[in-house]
This record gives sequence, C-alpha cells and structure tokens, in this order.
Amino acid sequence: MDFNTLVPGRAGLAGIDADALLVIVVGTKTPAELDGPLAAALGEAVKGGDFAFKAAQVLYAHRVSGVKAPRVAFVWAADAGAKAMRRAVTAGVALVKSGGAAHLAVTVAGAPLTDAAAEALVLAAHDATYVYRATKPSAPAAAKLARLSLVAAHAAEEKPLAAGLARGRAVAAGVALARECANRPANHCTPSYLAEQAVKLGKSRGLKVEVLERRDCERLGMGSFLAVAQGSEQPPKFIVMRWQGAGKGAAPLVLVGKGITFDTGGISIKPAAEMDEMKFDMGGAASVLGTMCAVAEAKAHINVVGLIPACENMPSGRAVKPGDVVKSLSGQTIEILNTDAEGRLILCDALTYAERLEPAAVVDIATLTGACVIALGHHRSGLFSPDDELAGELLAAGDAALDPAWRMPLDEEYDEALKSNFADMANVGPRAGGAITAAMFLRRFTAKLRWAHLDIAGTAWRSGTNKGSTGRPVPLLTRWVLARAGAEGKAEGKAEGKTAKAVKATKPAKAARRATRANKG
Ligand code: BES
Ligand code: MN
Ligand code: ZN
Repeated sequence: MDFNTLVPGRAGLAGIDADALLVIVVGTKTPAELDGPLAAALGEAVKGGDFAFKAAQVLYAHRVSGVKAPRVAFVWAADAGAKAMRRAVTAGVALVKSGGAAHLAVTVAGAPLTDAAAEALVLAAHDATYVYRATKPSAPAAAKLARLSLVAAHAAEEKPLAAGLARGRAVAAGVALARECANRPANHCTPSYLAEQAVKLGKSRGLKVEVLERRDCERLGMGSFLAVAQGSEQPPKFIVMRWQGAGKGAAPLVLVGKGITFDTGGISIKPAAEMDEMKFDMGGAASVLGTMCAVAEAKAHINVVGLIPACENMPSGRAVKPGDVVKSLSGQTIEILNTDAEGRLILCDALTYAERLEPAAVVDIATLTGACVIALGHHRSGLFSPDDELAGELLAAGDAALDPAWRMPLDEEYDEALKSNFADMANVGPRAGGAITAAMFLRRFTAKLRWAHLDIAGTAWRSGTNKGSTGRPVPLLTRWVLARAGAEGKAEGKAEGKTAKAVKATKPAKAARRATRANKG
C-alpha cells in the first residue's frame, strides 16, 4: 500500500478528492474543526442514535451531501495516541476494504496527530489488509485499497507526519516479510528457503549475506547446533547478514534468531495435537529477516548483523538421543536430556559466534519455551537480560512500538537446575520456571557480551481460527535499532566536541555499562 500526507485546500475535508474518507473522532462531542457537511452528518447520526462518543462506535455513510468523497466512515477514538489510532484505523479499514475504494483519506478530528500515531496507522492499515496466499490459490483477491493519505491539519504538520509514515512503511515491510516467511508451511520454508530469502533480501536492499554450510559449521566447531540438525534430511544453514549503515569500525548490534523450521521435538517427540504450529518455530529467524529489511529500508546510520542458525528438529536413526553429550562452539559440553529443548542448543553456538563480531549489544529472539506462554500469555514477550540499561531500552522500544515485552528474572539461584553429572551443563531443568532456566542456559554463553533474550513463544503467532504469524517482534526490534542509530549519531557529534550536554548525558551510561560488565565477571 502507498502512504502519503495531504493538506486540504480551501474546500477543507469536504472537498478532499478520495474514494473514501475516514474521520477518526476524538473526544466526547462533535469536534469544532469538522467541516459543515461532515459535522452535520455526524450530528444527525448522534441524534438518531446511530453513533455515540464511546468505544467501538463506527458509522458508514454513502454519498453524504456536500462531501466530495463518495464514502465516509466515522470511528470514535479515546485519544490520538498510537494505540487508539491503531484500533481506529483497524475498524475504519474494515468498513471500506471490501468495497470499491482504492484511495482512502484519513483524518483525525478533535486532537492533534503525532508522528508516532502516523507510524501506528501505517502498520494497522497493512495488518487489516494482509492476506496469506502463498499456498492458497483460493484466498480472497487482494483488497482494492491501495493508497492511504493522511490529512494534515496544516502545512507545518506535514513533515513530522511524513517522517512517521516513512518509519511505519519500513516497519510494515519488515513485518510483512516476517509474516510471509513464518506462515509458509515447513515443507516450503526449509533452512535452505530461509537462506534464499536472506540472499534475496541482501540483493534487493544492499545487505551483505553469507551462508555457512554444514561443513563450515563443523570446521568452526558448532557441535551443539549440528547435534540438533543431524536428525533431518534438510541441510542446516547458518545465515549471516550485515547492514552497514555506519563506519566500518563502529561496533554492530547483533540480532540472533532461532530458525527451527519445524520442531517435532526430536526423539523426545511432541504430542500430535497442535504440532502443526511448530512450523512457526522459526519466528525468531523471521523477525531477524524482517528487522534487517526494515533497518535497510529506513537506511539507518548504524551497523547491524543478523545471525540465523536454521535447521529442523527431527527424530531419525541419526538423530541426537536423550543423554547424548555434545561440545558447543564455546568449548563447554552439554548433556542433551531432552531433545525438545533444541532452541537453546542452536542459539548457544550462534551467541558464541557473535563474540567475534565485537558487538555493542546482542539480542536473541526465540520461540523458546511453552513455559513463557504460561507466564505471560499472548500479549507481552518475555525479556531477559542481566543488563539494566539494555533491558530498559528494549522495554521502552516495545511500549512505544505497541509490541510490548515484560522483564523476567535471571537470579543465579535458577542456574542450579542445569547441573549435570556428565557434562558442563544439562539442556533442561525441572518444569517449574522453564522460561527462566532456558534463559539461564543461554546466559552461560554470553559472559563476554551485553546481551538480552526475547522469548516470543506467546507472541510470534496466533492460534485458532485466526491462526497465523503476527510479525512480532519486528516493531520492537526496529524501534530499538533506530533509537540506537539516533543515539549513535548524537555520540558522533559528541566526539567532535559539538555539545557538552551530550557528553554529560553519555558518561554515566558508559560507567553503568562498565559496572554491569564487572558484576557479570
Ligand atoms: N519450540 C518449543 C517452544 C514452544 C512450545 C513454543 C509450544 C510455543 C508453543 C521449544 O523448542 C520446546 O519444545 N520447548 C520445550 C522445552 C522443554 C522440553 C524444557 C517446552 O517448552 O515444552
Ligand atoms: Mn522443542
Ligand atoms: Zn522449538
């Protein structure tokens, strides 16, 4: 879909040339700035009992006299914040998308629009019109809706709104890519397919992409990743994607995505019910692809590396068995007590690989544990990090992007659960606190890193009649990377001695970082 801003001419809203006009009404009365014919239509609807200034109120009207746009939709919103805008646009687009409108103009009456709201609006419009069709020829035809114009109240508003729309467009492209990958069944979306997608994305958006094959991983010593891969006929792929938006010497952010294209559980096989949903077990990988896409689309001034260990977790005569001991890339050995706890086994080698990139920070993203779904449900992702500053950045990014996370603990007491008599650690502990012990396992591989872990088992996809990938946490990750890119730009200014204020602001942050590192050691 195309997005742009529009400043109404002398004729005002009623004179806007579009196929449909969506008026988002904020507040408890007809907004004063609404044009005559629109105010009259809304007033009459209120009088007739067809609209009220409260939640879930929508009104569709055809050929309102005095209004140029042939279709008019009114939707109520509590305020003009990003969350309320998302809800209102979702409802508004639902009213017009099945009709003949190709060009929708959206206006907010009763409160000023912010760039954050504009960003949310783009995502909501994309979400409301997304249809999966890669393996479903009978899927409904694409909606006619192809263009959305955001009406700015005056010319000064246009620039920030356009910036919000641009950010929204970048995130929406990333979310769409993540959803498309994750929704594809596992006989289509194999590790090789993920590698192809990465290469394709690299070509179209200017990323450097490298794919390590099984023998490359063997040479490196990724014994843990390869142990999971060995039960499958599908060759594993270790994907490395680089976005270079800053100088060569600038330390990159590294995103690591769990890329299990199907999780049967392996020899510790899963029950049949809902096993199909384990095609979504590459949701972390999909979010890394999506975020790399968004960051490149936004041309962010920062270096970002995406790492995706990709393989299937299958039972077979060659598969890893409960009790097998393998040696990870870090040199630490692991007793695989449960082959269904495979995500941590592929992530630990990727996290060790990340060390050689000398990153500023590393975030891994994984559909890691059913226990996280029990803890947090489907609204917030689980966030784990020993680093308060990094955790704060990610939580703030999630809240701002309407893709929220919730911090979970990592006390050393939880580490007890991973003790093994036959290796440096076991890959599972008892059932209780399963999301935390999984994170504690990963923590054993991140002592040299500023690291955070996102457990997206409850947020990466929806079950039931609406089954499908959500594209989360691409919005959170993109927001975080872009915020980092902004902060980095300011830090460069500092180095040139531009602002004394910026120096003061960053110094305590650096000290805090050092302190966190010292605590870890
Ligand atoms: N991919 C699953 C986690 C998962 C399960 C996500 C259900 C969403 C819904 C992961 O590989 C897994 O199987 N985890 C096990 C760990 C256990 C064996 C310690 C789990 O959560 O049951
Ligand atoms: Mn599993
Ligand atoms: Zn899994």
